[in-house]
Amino acid sequence: MNEFDFKGKNAVITGAGSGIGRELCIQLAKEGCNISAADINEKGLRETEDAVRAAGKNIICYITDVSDRKQIFEFAEKTIYYNNSIDIVINNAGVAMSDVPAENIDFKDFEWMMNINLWGVVNTAKAFIGSLKKSRDSYLVNTSSIYGIFAMKNAAAYTTSKFAVRGFSEALVQELHGTSVNVMTVYPGGIKTNIAKNSRWIGETGDTDGQKRQLARFENSAKTEPEDAAKQILQAMKRRKKRLLIGKDARFMDLYVRINPSGYDRFVREHILKEKQR
Ligand SMILES: NC(=O)c1ccc[n+]([C@@H]2O[C@H](COP(=O)([O-])OP(=O)(O)OC[C@H]3O[C@@H](n4cnc5c(N)ncnc54)[C@H](O)[C@@H]3O)[C@@H](O)[C@H]2O)c1
Repeated sequence: MNEFDFKGKNAVITGAGSGIGRELCIQLAKEGCNISAADINEKGLRETEDAVRAAGKNIICYITDVSDRKQIFEFAEKTIYYNNSIDIVINNAGVAMSDVPAENIDFKDFEWMMNINLWGVVNTAKAFIGSLKKSRDSYLVNTSSIYGIFAMKNAAAYTTSKFAVRGFSEALVQELHGTSVNVMTVYPGGIKTNIAKNSRWIGETGDTDGQKRQLARFENSAKTEPEDAAKQILQAMKRRKKRLLIGKDARFMDLYVRINPSGYDRFVREHILKEKQR
């Protein structure tokens, strides 16, 4: 099968104002794509714009909330009109939440997370699929997480949203088979971005010990640089992959869960959370 070619393609990246999304914009622009970047964070988006322009490439930025269906369909209308077609859509926008047992998560916080992490992906995919199908050779990339492969205690909302993205995305792999649209689901392990700092902190205000512990746990476990994550995504697209695990942590847990699907909770308790045996 021939490599997926980026040159001259029109790419949409959501969550482009930070982390993996910013790196995707820079690297896709360097590969010769025209970039349409979306984020709710205007400051972050401007920084991405500066970074892409500093590399001598072009980018158009849109302040857009992926959880707002009307905004996403207007964004799609504008970008498709401006570029004539969209050939690459990367559903990357996502949010995290501080550790909280499912019993104590307010519905409004659960819904906030589902609206961005799941509905953001569904909204954006549905807004662009028609245009992607018209392109000669296109790609839809959906970002799940290693928490879309194994569940994590006290992260039920995030885990639920990422398992759901996996289901949606893997269904699209089958639905779009035989069309011009390639589909890939991405499962990153820990990536060194602002995601933990940008978390919604539930039931805590200020700089508490609980927050510090959680941030420290994330910082100790996140080993992959966002530049490297973006590079791996582009390489996997070139090879027309349908599934990408990023990082040794993700590859290890994917294998572990397949070998021990009903016993991995113990591994999570003892080796990831390092809880004492009761
Ligand atoms: N960093 C990790 O360890 C990790 C691990 C697994 C999966 N992921 C996933 O990777 C993706 C990128 O995350 P990141 O680590 O680069 O985080 P990040 O916080 O650095 O970047 C996420 C971006 O999404 C934007 N965003 C948030 N809500 C939005 C909305 N409603 N509409 C539009 N944009 C919105 C934020 O403003 C931010 O710029 C997310 O889907 C995340 O869940 C990250």
